[in-house]
Amino acid sequence: MSKPRLILAVESSCDESAVALVREGGEVLAERVASQSDLHAISGGVIPEVAAREHHLWVPRLLDEMLRSDVGRTYAAEIDAVGVTTGPGLIGSLLVGAGVAAAWAWGRGLPIVPVNHLEGHFRAAWLRDSAFAGVRPQLPAIGLVVSGGHTLIVHVGSDGVSERLGGTIDDAAGEAFDKIARLIGLPYPGGAALSALAKTATQRTRRDRLPVARTEREYDLSFSGVKTAAARMALAAAGAPSSEPGRATALQAALRQRPVPPAAAAEIAAAAEEAIVAALVERVESALVAYPGTGLVVGGGVAANGPLRAGLAAVAKRHQRPLSVPPARWCTDNAAMIGAAAHAALSEGRVTLQDPGRGLKVSAAWPFGAEVPS
Ligand code: KG4
Ligand code: ZN
Repeated sequence: MSKPRLILAVESSCDESAVALVREGGEVLAERVASQSDLHAISGGVIPEVAAREHHLWVPRLLDEMLRSDVGRTYAAEIDAVGVTTGPGLIGSLLVGAGVAAAWAWGRGLPIVPVNHLEGHFRAAWLRDSAFAGVRPQLPAIGLVVSGGHTLIVHVGSDGVSERLGGTIDDAAGEAFDKIARLIGLPYPGGAALSALAKTATQRTRRDRLPVARTEREYDLSFSGVKTAAARMALAAAGAPSSEPGRATALQAALRQRPVPPAAAAEIAAAAEEAIVAALVERVESALVAYPGTGLVVGGGVAANGPLRAGLAAVAKRHQRPLSVPPARWCTDNAAMIGAAAHAALSEGRVTLQDPGRGLKVSAAWPFGAEVPS
């Protein structure tokens, strides 16, 4: 049998610069991630130009650091191909990663594998290393990808071919978490902090569930209603004169003047988390019922959320399906997942190796499962 392929992977689609060395089968030999979230916390969100400049600094630095490490030096000569995220994401950020990856590959005579970031989140469940070896995912599967920029439910067949079943029609789940976190005074990105605050909520009476609007299509989701309801709760708790949330800037100004008291902030966090998690879990359960014999694979930054993991675990158990969720470090953006997706696309014959000398096309919008944009 031939030696399993080794891929050097690069990720830079949003605000994490990352590189990794990943063996076919999902073994992560080395990886580096540099997050810009502290920088973007100052502006309350990602500024695309700032993100691209930071990638320009960090992608080559991380690559150099990883390849100079003991593991990097041991395996550098075995690298067979370079996998890089070419969409979806911020164009400037994608261009930096694609440019560095293509130049590095060209210099060593190696081919390139363009990778879809969302497929990366889905394939993160196949990763393992000396510290983690979870439930080996099985195909066919229902996939839930929940991140700051995307929320979608897919069906992935045994041949790796996928069909989008549904997703958010407005904000992504992570975006909803981040916006509600901001209302209650938490810095960007607020999902994890909101979840931690929700745990401290003490109200013993039954909490009214915040509304998650029903959508026309069975597997679609809408989070704008939860956001508006959370804004109303925040204004009321802050004693702000208007009960109308109005425009985001006016709302932020009103809440800056009168911040939400801590106990009320915890209640809002708990109510919002409950509503977002319940909506996601319900849609996933419907998909599992509609597609018998599927496993459940979860990925994306929001998959780090404790109540969501618990809710999905309960549903998977009820329907006797294997659940695969990566550890938190592979839920948020990283390059190891890009390596895993590159291996999957190659072994399933969904992508052909590309010549880096011909240039790489990056794409802000590249749907999960669609062919590499040409
Ligand atoms: O996948 P990711 O790193 O970046 C994108 O591709 O968007 O996801 C980041 C998102 C942010 O919105 C962040 O607030 C959210 O994941 N997140 C969480 C948690 N940890 C990260 N949301 C809820 N609970 C968490 N524990
Ligand atoms: Zn992501």
